[in-house]
Amino acid sequence: MATFTLNINGESREIDVDPNTPILWVLRDHLNLVGTKYGCGIAQCGACTVHLEGTAVRSCMLTVSSVGNQKITTIEGLSENGDHPVQKAWLEVDVPQCGYCQAGQIMTASAFLEKNPNPTDEEIEMAMNGNICRCGTYIRIKKAVKIAANTNNA
Ligand code: FES
Ligand code: FES
Repeated sequence: MATFTLNINGESREIDVDPNTPILWVLRDHLNLVGTKYGCGIAQCGACTVHLEGTAVRSCMLTVSSVGNQKITTIEGLSENGDHPVQKAWLEVDVPQCGYCQAGQIMTASAFLEKNPNPTDEEIEMAMNGNICRCGTYIRIKKAVKIAANTNNA
């Protein structure tokens, strides 16, 4: 066990865990930030996606000892009131079915649009490709990402 001070959603959080603990379990089990989901545990599904300094990363493969003071943002910290342009677009299109994958989808989409605010359809396809949705909401996801991009550029 060791003590780590993490920068999560703009707050400093201290935890005492094994250094090899993945951030996913720190978030869910130690900090009760359960919006980030466990799907595969081997970086294959995207359900556990969070932002590390604004880049989408898979928290199931990110050990607590590797992040230092880098900023971690989870779905809970993406916006104050659930009103990030991507979240608004998700609501507009009514994207989720069961919802399990959706926090990861939104975190991937929001990091992508931050870096590429005016993407082509192919770029959206590529960016979202690694986030699996067992309910098959892919068409609505793409539509919502396009709406969010247009909102950002309006
Ligand atoms: S749980 Fe991390 S990528 Fe699937
Ligand atoms: S909405 Fe059910 S897994 Fe994506």
